[in-house]
Amino acid sequence: MSKITNVLMLKDKSCVPIWFMRQAGRYLPEFRKIRKKNKDFIKLCLNSNLSSKITLQPLKRFNLDAAIIFSDILIVPFFLGSNVKFIKNKGPILSNFKIQKFIQNKNKKFTKDLKPIYNTINKTRKKLHKSKSLISFVGAPWTLIVYMLGLKDNNNKLNLEKFNKNKKQAILILNKLNEFLCIHIKNQIDAGADTVQIFDSWAGLLPRKDLNTFCYEPNQQIVNFCKKHKIPVICFPKGIKRNYSDFYKIVKPNGISIDYDINPEWARKNLNGACIQGGMDPKILFQKDKIIFSETKKYLDVFKNYPYIFNLGHGLLPKTDPNKINKLINFIKNYE
Ligand code: CP3
Repeated sequence: MSKITNVLMLKDKSCVPIWFMRQAGRYLPEFRKIRKKNKDFIKLCLNSNLSSKITLQPLKRFNLDAAIIFSDILIVPFFLGSNVKFIKNKGPILSNFKIQKFIQNKNKKFTKDLKPIYNTINKTRKKLHKSKSLISFVGAPWTLIVYMLGLKDNNNKLNLEKFNKNKKQAILILNKLNEFLCIHIKNQIDAGADTVQIFDSWAGLLPRKDLNTFCYEPNQQIVNFCKKHKIPVICFPKGIKRNYSDFYKIVKPNGISIDYDINPEWARKNLNGACIQGGMDPKILFQKDKIIFSETKKYLDVFKNYPYIFNLGHGLLPKTDPNKINKLINFIKNYE
């Protein structure tokens, strides 16, 4: 078993494995070099040779305990019929959602279309040492719906009027989406991934009264599917503040990734029983070494003798200096 799955399954409290969200990405010059020659992001995700290479890039540089497969949460809506455009400095824009077309999607075609991603996983697993985890992922239904129906405005706030107008349709989409997300998870595990992370990056946009329907329930359905298939699962319901404790009580994933708004001491008390992951603000990596180390120490001390996976409170930012990551990893590996 890999170090990460051991900690996730609460079989080891003494080691702190490390990986980073967005560890394969724009802060790495070797990624930017490939990206420059491959302008179409979706095509790049579907190029198994290059995707596998990109997945392994951060592991060549750093002493990480996991690779996360290079792909994107928006590949699923793309193959379910949405147009997906990545616009520089504006983020992804999805269009052309048609409910009639959406509900007609079939497993067989979906699995065939996503085959290149499963090939990436297969290729990567063969090149990865067995002590290292290969993490697969999906976007949670709510976060995907935010993109599919364009529910947030340019300031990353929920467009409440549009949300209320589209609520019935959104509920209709949830179940069908979950069906395909579970298929995608199972296919990724069958291809050689050992863990899955569910990104609910926009959970924090939901009004409290809607958290149950749009966040807890759909995450719970996916987690139950994972448990049935003995797949270790980590949830990341970003931005839901103190509702993290309700989320944990209801959804019960093996691991729960905390964001930078969550006080680690509060998490240790209120999420007790789960393996906890992450937390530190990615912006800390723009600070001097001394500050990076003292912040890191905070998390390591709070989670001493508790199943903890080191990660950040969100993905690595494109302006991060790769040398800082090396120093951070060495600090953690040498701590006590
Ligand atoms: O290294 C890894 O983490 C694995 C690959 C990965 C990517 N996206 C690659 C990527 C993963 C796990 C994701 C998840 C993802 N994608 C999320 C959930 C995590 C989060 O950040 O909250 C979300 C919301 C998306 C949607 C998405 N894809 C956005 C918002 C963007 C553009 C802006 C941004 O934040 O980077 C993308 C494009 C994308 N996905 C890039 C990468 C490396 C940048 C591509 C580029 O322009 O070169």
